[in-house]
Amino acid sequence: MRPYVVAHVAVSVEGATDGFAPDLAQFYGLAATWSEDVTLVGADTILAQEPALAATPGPGPAPGGPLLAVVDSQARVQQWAALRDAGHWSGVLALYAASTPPRPAGADVTELVTGDDRVDLSATLSTLADRGARVVRVDSGGTLIGALLHRGLLDELSLLVHPVLAGAAGTRHWHGAAPPPEGPLEPAGAQPLDGGLVWLRYRTPGATPPR
Ligand SMILES: NC(=O)c1ccc[n+]([C@@H]2O[C@H](COP(=O)([O-])OP(=O)(O)OC[C@H]3O[C@@H](n4cnc5c(N)ncnc54)[C@H](OP(=O)(O)O)[C@@H]3O)[C@@H](O)[C@H]2O)c1
Repeated sequence: MRPYVVAHVAVSVEGATDGFAPDLAQFYGLAATWSEDVTLVGADTILAQEPALAATPGPGPAPGGPLLAVVDSQARVQQWAALRDAGHWSGVLALYAASTPPRPAGADVTELVTGDDRVDLSATLSTLADRGARVVRVDSGGTLIGALLHRGLLDELSLLVHPVLAGAAGTRHWHGAAPPPEGPLEPAGAQPLDGGLVWLRYRTPGATPPR
């Protein structure tokens, strides 16, 4: 048993996740589509936001919002309190492995420990399902999406394609550094949007969307 797992990602035409300015209003507007129970985020995505988080105090936890779960086997994330207070999530959960080094001083965050050297993504999703999560939305620049894809743990891929080529500025791609595993996908939507954006949705074979 695991939740329905969807990765929603803003990309350039060549599939880069950085090196261009995403339309954040449309990106986050569409992200509400799935009403996820858990937002699963890669540590590197959080680290890219930490300076801004630390500089701008948030309103506090969002009752009824999703849980923020961060894959962080190296214990690199520091701003747990700021994340909790950002106003997007009801709470925060650090996903660590058995070999995770000592936690940041003063970090006040609930932990889930799986795996030895790295967080065990499959075991993590199973535990989240046991705790009642039905839908998990992945927020990642591609590395975490690729890791999930290679383990058969992704149900839906949602690409918000921007009319731009990131070129050499695009250092990351939605499937991570390695090529994605080959195979067919089931089309689940193709919609032109304002500003020349196109929203593409695909499901992996056998994936059943939540009711
Ligand atoms: N365009 C978009 O929609 C979008 C969305 C989000 C972020 N971004 C941008 O993308 C950048 C960050 O993306 P990123 O791709 O570098 O990193 P990321 O996906 O945010 O983070 C990588 C995560 O994958 C985990 N991971 C990798 N391989 C794993 C494995 N085999 N097992 C378990 N966990 C594994 C890492 O865990 P460990 O920590 O344990 O190593 C880490 O938490 C930032 O610049 C951000 O601004 C863009």
